[in-house]
Amino acid sequence: MHPHFSHFFRTILDTPLEGLIESLPASLSDWETSNKHGHWPRWQKLLKEYPLSDNQEWHTTDGTVVMCEGLFTDDENKRINGLLRQFKPWRKGPYQIDTTFIDTEWRSHYKWDRLLPHITPLDDRRVLDVGCGSGYHMWRMLEAGAKNVVGIDPTVLFFMQFLIVKHFAGNHPVHFLPLGIEAMPASHGFDTVFSMGVFYHRKDPFAFLQQLKNQLAPEGELVLETLIIPGDDQTVLMPKDRYAQMSNVWFIPSADAMILWLERAGFKQVKVVDSAMTSVAEQRKTDWIDGHSLADFLHPDDPSLTIEGYPAPTRAVFIANK
Ligand SMILES: C[S@@+](CC[C@H](N)C(=O)[O-])C[C@H]1O[C@@H](n2cnc3c(N)ncnc32)[C@H](O)[C@@H]1O
Repeated sequence: MHPHFSHFFRTILDTPLEGLIESLPASLSDWETSNKHGHWPRWQKLLKEYPLSDNQEWHTTDGTVVMCEGLFTDDENKRINGLLRQFKPWRKGPYQIDTTFIDTEWRSHYKWDRLLPHITPLDDRRVLDVGCGSGYHMWRMLEAGAKNVVGIDPTVLFFMQFLIVKHFAGNHPVHFLPLGIEAMPASHGFDTVFSMGVFYHRKDPFAFLQQLKNQLAPEGELVLETLIIPGDDQTVLMPKDRYAQMSNVWFIPSADAMILWLERAGFKQVKVVDSAMTSVAEQRKTDWIDGHSLADFLHPDDPSLTIEGYPAPTRAVFIANK
């Protein structure tokens, strides 16, 4: 078994998450043996080529997750930079690995700053980040005091990016499981479950809400961030095809509709705590992605619309309890 997974299992022994040990090892072994991602073996070799410092240290500065600052030689930093560029596109961040600043497509700290004042403080909580991407927010959760942070995401490239960043961070209770939420056995063990930017990608929103609920401990807190449109509690957009050029968008409710859906899914104390239109300062093309970004997905004559003519991306944060 990949050492990352075995380390994760050690951190949940004798905790409310211990039940995951029943079936997850088998799912992860299946993932390892059936991993069809063509680059995986080469990527594993590349991971070994990154230099390692004895004195691993990380912190955040102005929203950037900084690893190993000042710890490598010029030659090592050149090598690190070249290796990091082989793992594009870097979407969620930013990160800095010693002298290399990974200026990701998203300034993910904007989202974190919007929601942090509203959530129950993470001190000593077990936290799950569903659809964690490269894991940027997981570092912020650890920084905010969480005692165990687990991220799940089925995209193999994002798992690799996470492993690379973690390589520089040392041993921390932050683990990534390369699985979709539907493959997670119900744990009923996390104090806070985050789902940010995933809801609109799910074809069956009620099954998804139930899956999130199944991960929460009794009274646990759900932090759900998703796209919304203007309207009342009966308003929902199902794009005819693409939405802001994304092909896998299914349901975009109004904030009131999302509250109603959360309530009908059995959540309590549901509230919306923030909403913000996504700006081209938050999501933009950088040197660390190939291809296009938000500015190209908006209507050329009217930036309040997507290129398809729908309301431009606005995201809201909902908080609810099990
Ligand atoms: C828009 S990104 C959001 C990333 C991050 N949470 C954020 O808010 O910046 C959506 C993520 O959900 C992941 N995802 C897609 N299907 C998923 C599933 N079934 N379970 C968990 N994550 C999923 C994608 O791989 C992607 O990383």
